[in-house]
Amino acid sequence: MTRHDWPLHGGQAMPLLTRFGLPEDTPVLDVSANLNPLGPPAWLSSWLAERMATISRYPDPEYRKARIAIADHEGVHPDQVLLTNGGAEAIFIAAALHAGEAATIVQPGFAEYARACTAHGLSRHDTHLAPPDFLLDPDALVRGLGECRLLFLCRPHNPSGKLIPRQTMERLIELTKERDCHVVVDEAFIDFVDDPNEALTPLLARFDHLILLRSLTKLYTLPGLRVGYLLADSRTVERAKAFQPAWSVNGLAAELVPPLLDDHDFMARTREWLATERPRLQADLGKLGLEVVPSQTNFFLVRHPHGRETTRSLLPALLRRGVMVRHTESFPGLDGGWLRVALRGVEDNDRLLSALADSLAEYRGGGIP
Ligand SMILES: Cc1ncc(COP(=O)(O)O)c(C=O)c1O
Repeated sequence: MTRHDWPLHGGQAMPLLTRFGLPEDTPVLDVSANLNPLGPPAWLSSWLAERMATISRYPDPEYRKARIAIADHEGVHPDQVLLTNGGAEAIFIAAALHAGEAATIVQPGFAEYARACTAHGLSRHDTHLAPPDFLLDPDALVRGLGECRLLFLCRPHNPSGKLIPRQTMERLIELTKERDCHVVVDEAFIDFVDDPNEALTPLLARFDHLILLRSLTKLYTLPGLRVGYLLADSRTVERAKAFQPAWSVNGLAAELVPPLLDDHDFMARTREWLATERPRLQADLGKLGLEVVPSQTNFFLVRHPHGRETTRSLLPALLRRGVMVRHTESFPGLDGGWLRVALRGVEDNDRLLSALADSLAEYRGGGIP
């Protein structure tokens, strides 16, 4: 079983079900993709229905309204905003800015950073954060950068859920400035962090080599609709735009941005859910005897104390009980020795916990190798 046989992303039940000999239409509780269980917002289906006529018109290629709404929300100038077809497109655009140059990915990291580097001919010399602490030493990292012109990292970190301290980030950004290396910070999960001031947006005013990537698909549960954005210095955004096809973001997704960002009630309910369910799930996973990486976002990395093979075996055991967790075979440095589980609502979290309890009981009874 090699790393490459596994799906690269969460949310893909069919390949996992067939791999483990289960019918491909088996219904599963998906805790492999990190999506807000409160979304999409209740008003969205009627909102979309009312706007069906707009699909017969081209969207504004400048996406002015969406960019103004994002700029207001983030406290930046609209020229510092590029609307993208999900955070994934923003990653490819960031790589395109440095086509043919050298990049470093802070691993384990989201698979699209490596795909984007390959697509745009960037050579790579990755660096690794070691589990279970995933600590980043900015001075050591920068010493190892060599000719690197583009650094990719994710904060809060997917897959660990850890938030690299702000001071560490500032140090890293200062040091990379001296070396003329653009820093791409993927903040796809920043909205799930308790303190809204943890976002690095204010640093854009000081550093023109900083590129922040955002996704609205996680918070508002719109992975099928796709919307994200890139924030950077206006000159970088201008250059980035040249790598984006016209109308890359569909008109409905673009029009949706202002009302989404205006829905303060949705955000408040999301915060309430996080405040209660995140500590509860973390504690209950620990009570089952699993090692849990403390998370500041909406997912947890866990492993069984008996090691890699036991942890690995929990994935099919859970799948047989109708729960799909995220494997880590494709995360360099984790290599299958951990599982990632998304935070869901009360009932789903209970279902995950009970499927885990049953799988662990099967293991203790000798049923799992
Ligand atoms: C760290 C990270 N960045 C970006 C993305 C892409 O998000 P989007 O669905 O907005 O393209 C994901 C999706 O899983 C992700 O995990």
